[in-house]
Amino acid sequence: MDHFAYQNGVLHAENIPVATIAGQVGTPVYIYSEATLRRHARVFAEGLAALPKKHIAFAVKSNPNLAVLRVLASEGYGADVVSQGEMERALAAGMPAADIVFSGVGKTRAELSAALRAGIGQFNLESEEEGVELAQIAAQMGLRAPAVLRVNPDVDAKTHEKISTGKAENKFGVALDQTPAMYARLASLEGLDLRGIACHIGSQITDLEPSRQAFIRMGELLATLRAAGHAVTHVDLGGGLGVPYRMGETLPGPADYGAMVAAVTADWDVTLMFEPGRVITGNSGILVTEVVRVKAAEPYPFVVVDAAMNDLVRPAMYDAWHDFVAVAPTGETMTATVVGPICESSDTFAKRREIDVVKQGDLAAFRTAGAYGATMANTYNSRALVPEVMVNGDQWAIVANRIEPATILAAEQVPDWLK
Ligand code: LLP
Repeated sequence: MDHFAYQNGVLHAENIPVATIAGQVGTPVYIYSEATLRRHARVFAEGLAALPKKHIAFAVKSNPNLAVLRVLASEGYGADVVSQGEMERALAAGMPAADIVFSGVGKTRAELSAALRAGIGQFNLESEEEGVELAQIAAQMGLRAPAVLRVNPDVDAKTHEKISTGKAENKFGVALDQTPAMYARLASLEGLDLRGIACHIGSQITDLEPSRQAFIRMGELLATLRAAGHAVTHVDLGGGLGVPYRMGETLPGPADYGAMVAAVTADWDVTLMFEPGRVITGNSGILVTEVVRVKAAEPYPFVVVDAAMNDLVRPAMYDAWHDFVAVAPTGETMTATVVGPICESSDTFAKRREIDVVKQGDLAAFRTAGAYGATMANTYNSRALVPEVMVNGDQWAIVANRIEPATILAAEQVPDWLK
């Protein structure tokens, strides 16, 4: 459920007509609904209510906007970060360092040092090499780094292959059969407080069974590690819960996920850590665009909009579906291909799809664009970096400015020898 609905025939973000924002900020523009963000944060937390000890770290990568992080901080969420930049955002939003988990397969020495200095709550180690390096840096600083070892459970998450992370062939985590010996070696290092294990098998997971299988394997590993004398107190189960992208689609939600987790982990007696991203932010945002023109073609016309793959790359990159709706629909539909202005055929948002009838100058929206939308935007074709707006009831504000091509041009120099 979200707070983007039609009132008197026109699309609103909470109480604000989308056209009001588009008129003042221009298009394309992302609009986030604070009420939707809060609702999703609460529904996810409620889904886990039966679990005695838990920590929820919002996956910042899904939407790192400062205002979004601020909302989630006020909902009691910590953060899952994968770079120093994300860490600094989470801290700037007021998330306590102790509530931040640092994930990522390529943390640099500089990032490990900065995270130690900041007092980050947990490092999710992706390899033995990283653990040794972290232990050494921490020992030099007179610290013990709280850490868990990420395991690759070799489970197929049954999602798009580009966002699957828990198969043996993926770069993430360490092989299950190597974990006990590696864990013992890392646990003996002075600079590490190795306190558990982690996994994350992929994103936009729409079937709970692969996660259940992965968690069962984590439970077996937990027992093995304890039998070897390790005091395992934390297990991080990652993120990955999918969201409905198509109107009317129903998927397992946080309550189903929570019940599955509660059943599998009933006798674990650990603090369970979660790293949800998309399930919190996905339906909390839309991308608003204006129709540049409708180009006649056979058998179907092209609707050319002013948003492009640089603003929302998911369709081009993962063949992802985003519902496309008119801001002021007439009630009539047409079949068309919706494309952006970029000079690549992959700049296609919807192929031969039945959509609301739109014409030049009309506003339209791509729904469920709050996760992996603005955060993946770029300036390809020397386009602006897309702005972001947040709505709260009757109020709205720009929460990220449009960065104009002129600003980007001003950051480039011609070397002396070319002048
Ligand atoms: N934890 C880790 C270690 C992750 O790698 C990810 C996502 C998450 C948590 C959050 O997963 P979520 O709950 O959002 O599914 N750009 C792609 C998605 C990439 C996901 C990367 N990792 C997309 O647009 O579909």
